[in-house]
Amino acid sequence: MFNDIPKEMLDRMQQLEQMDARDRADGTDRMQRLRQIPPETGKFLALLAAGAPQGNFIEIGTSAGYSTMWLALACRQAGRKLTTFELLEEKAALARETFKLTGIEDVVELVVGDAREHLPAIDGISFCFLDAEKEVYVDCYEAVAAKLVPGGILVADNAISHGKELQPVLDRALNDERVDALIVPIGKGELLCRKI
Ligand SMILES: C[S@@+](CC[C@H](N)C(=O)[O-])C[C@H]1O[C@@H](n2cnc3c(N)ncnc32)[C@H](O)[C@@H]1O
Repeated sequence: MFNDIPKEMLDRMQQLEQMDARDRADGTDRMQRLRQIPPETGKFLALLAAGAPQGNFIEIGTSAGYSTMWLALACRQAGRKLTTFELLEEKAALARETFKLTGIEDVVELVVGDAREHLPAIDGISFCFLDAEKEVYVDCYEAVAAKLVPGGILVADNAISHGKELQPVLDRALNDERVDALIVPIGKGELLCRKI
């Protein structure tokens, strides 16, 4: 997956990394910033997704599609498709541009709206990356954990960087008898859960 990333994708990754770094440095409003995962988290997600069991792949919090590109590498590898949810139309427009430029429109479906309204309609989830506003994590966790297939994986970002705000969902997952869970100190800290 990582040894032959297409040039268009490497270029777009680099462009979004530069935009994200610039936004963080110049004080751009929080809701406008891309707030992307770092590349090592992208690789971690791709490795986990490529080994996930049969089922639906989802992502909650697309932004400009940076993490989606890493997940698309796993989709290509494993012959899967991903549905990614983004609340804001401006971010969705950037994501559409990303998917077009990098030729991954065939493996990625973008849904614009609040993921919580769509999750009840999705069954048989085998991989989920949760990276949205912190207030929605508990609701998303409950909706996804109930639909994970055996061996299905849920990863939630910011488990260390926003550990205090996320304490309720971390406590819930780490004490949830339906899953094996731990916090992985990579990037901003990833809550990693596997359905038993
Ligand atoms: C941290 S950014 C995602 C970054 C992206 N995963 C990446 O690494 O490239 C969070 C995104 O989640 C979106 N979001 C927040 N709440 C959401 C919700 N309830 N449903 C869907 N998207 C949501 C925000 O608009 C924002 O673009």
